[in-house]
Amino acid sequence: MAIFLVLLGPPGVGKGTQAERLAEESGLPHVSSGDLFREAIKAQTPLGREAQTYIDRGELVPDKVTIAMVAERLNKPDCAEGAILDGFPRTIEQAKALDDVLAQRNASVTLVPYISSATETLLQRLGGRWTCRDCQAVYHVLWNPPSEPGKCDVCGGELYQRPDDTPETHRKRIEVYLEQTAPLIEYYRQRGLLVEINGEADIEGVYADLLAAVRHIGDKKPASSEEPCYA
Ligand code: AP5
Ligand code: MG
Repeated sequence: MAIFLVLLGPPGVGKGTQAERLAEESGLPHVSSGDLFREAIKAQTPLGREAQTYIDRGELVPDKVTIAMVAERLNKPDCAEGAILDGFPRTIEQAKALDDVLAQRNASVTLVPYISSATETLLQRLGGRWTCRDCQAVYHVLWNPPSEPGKCDVCGGELYQRPDDTPETHRKRIEVYLEQTAPLIEYYRQRGLLVEINGEADIEGVYADLLAAVRHIGDKKPASSEEPCYA
């Protein structure tokens, strides 16, 4: 059975950081709508140019183009066994579209880890973030610094601060999250898919909770066994 995890949570809570680690551990691809948009912007494709205007303002890119982009990504062969979705879905319409895309291949969303944090924590994390220009790996000046300043540990690429990492855009993105994305918490809770993760812990602590939740996909026992069910 293919496994599709949806990492849900506000901007800066650590979805990308955790998805990357989980992808490495599970072998499933990390599918981040934000990363896909940034790649399109870098390549200056028509999609990239359209997305940029919304991203710069901290608004959501329209559902139609976002859904088409992610659906295309999920239909690539490396997603045959599943994927770790980060930043998608972000609206109820996107969630319904994801259900449809997966249903067409007899699959469905397996689990939705919802990582939450106080707004102050989000702002501190976003304010100190540096991202790799080449592979999009994420660092933090205090909590996850690279070994060498300005250089990516993974690929040696140059680190930069995302253009949408400004205090104004941070606040706007959090506002947009509360209005348009937070309703997904209930959407997935009602379907019995939501598992809440305390995002206030450090990166290791959040990862440990996430792993405990993911290891028990498919069984209803309490999170105590060491056996990863996706291995
Ligand atoms: P996107 O790239 O998805 O941005 P986001 O949701 O705003 O989330 P971030 O990437 O800012 O945060 P994150 O949760 O991944 O945290 P991270 O791991 O980096 O989207 C950007 C834009 O694209 C959107 O505004 C929108 O315009 C558009 N878009 C994307 N998807 C869309 C969609 N589906 N529909 C429509 N539009 C869409 O961590 C943050 C920092 O904290 C890092 O520095 C990290 O090192 C640090 N950190 C992480 N965890 C911890 C921890 N536990 N303790 C201490 N530090 C930590
Ligand atoms: Mg991210």
